[in-house]
Amino acid sequence: MSEKMQAALLTHYGQVTPLIKTVPVPTLRVTDVLVKIRAASLNPIDLKTMAGGLKFLLPYRMPLILGSDFAGEIVAVGNQVTQFRVGDAVYGRPRKSRIGTFAEYLAVDAADIALKPRNLTFNEAAAIPLVGLTSYQALHDILRVKHGQKVLIQAGAGGIGTIAIQLATYLGAQVATTTSPKNFALVRSLGADRVIDYHNEDFATALTDYDAVFDTLGGKSLEQAFSVVKRGGQVVSISGLPNVRFAKAYGLPLWKQGVLGIATHRLTRLERQSGVAYHFLFMAPSGEELALLAALITAGKLRPVIDRTFQFRDLDQALVYSKRGHARGKVIVELP
Ligand SMILES: NC(=O)c1ccc[n+]([C@@H]2O[C@H](COP(=O)([O-])OP(=O)(O)OC[C@H]3O[C@@H](n4cnc5c(N)ncnc54)[C@H](OP(=O)(O)O)[C@@H]3O)[C@@H](O)[C@H]2O)c1
Repeated sequence: MSEKMQAALLTHYGQVTPLIKTVPVPTLRVTDVLVKIRAASLNPIDLKTMAGGLKFLLPYRMPLILGSDFAGEIVAVGNQVTQFRVGDAVYGRPRKSRIGTFAEYLAVDAADIALKPRNLTFNEAAAIPLVGLTSYQALHDILRVKHGQKVLIQAGAGGIGTIAIQLATYLGAQVATTTSPKNFALVRSLGADRVIDYHNEDFATALTDYDAVFDTLGGKSLEQAFSVVKRGGQVVSISGLPNVRFAKAYGLPLWKQGVLGIATHRLTRLERQSGVAYHFLFMAPSGEELALLAALITAGKLRPVIDRTFQFRDLDQALVYSKRGHARGKVIVELP
């Protein structure tokens, strides 16, 4: 194995395109495995990180190798790793302080990965970790979606939406979703029962008495979500503002808790008036949950949806495509 590798580097916030450079292969900690990355997926967090939009929650030191999830093959294991071996095909979402999957190699904590679902290629498996974990944590861990419940999932054709619809359907929910007419057949094939063309129909007047909303849009759509849910129901957002409860649980300093308290006063009022609980989710890495998702995938309950695949050298084009915000499922980057 070479001591050097190609990696996509961010040298400062606001950089428009990551620079593909030759850098040292990362060194292993005792609880790490070293993975030869075969494929990685693009996530809006890559663009937000480049723009500096997440500094408040997630400050990084530069230079930073970008990329938040992957599928690949283990080429070395740390001294304390017992559950994986060299040659294992794995997939994962590294913890936020140790991202860097747009690279030939990644040193990742063994707790953040799982064996790749056997029936998926590396490209397909790379489509799962970040969106799969986020959807699982929203629908299963927070909302605790149960059979027969009515759940709205915003932006059903996106990276999150395509997995979340399948998971909510698997959990027995009746699923409504929003998308453009060109994606109606796709979201129905994933399990959506009620499909709303967000260009021509207002979900907030079309839907009532829902048990839960999984909001992926934030802003006005998040505020409107409270009118769709019945009293005692829940809204979980991954794109709205984090509230004070989240800020405390995430361990933010008091001044940041105060800032977020002021910024979310409208959401807090809506929560009180509607009797609907609001949760902000910032997904967490979990090898255990990835193993659960792999079991669902091999059982045929869940499948990745891939829009396009780019070569690593064309990462800049992949980012431009993703930034348009109209992907149908996931955008994948194949590593050399
Ligand atoms: N907090 C967290 O832990 C966390 C984790 C993952 C993702 N996120 C956030 O969640 C959001 C979604 O992520 P993603 O990976 O699903 O993004 P994505 O794949 O880029 O989303 C693209 C999809 O959004 C749809 N869309 C855009 N505007 C819409 C609208 N007003 N109504 C309905 N659909 C709309 C597009 O459909 P059309 O082509 O029909 O417009 C397209 O299919 C991002 O903001 C991301 O940063 C947060």
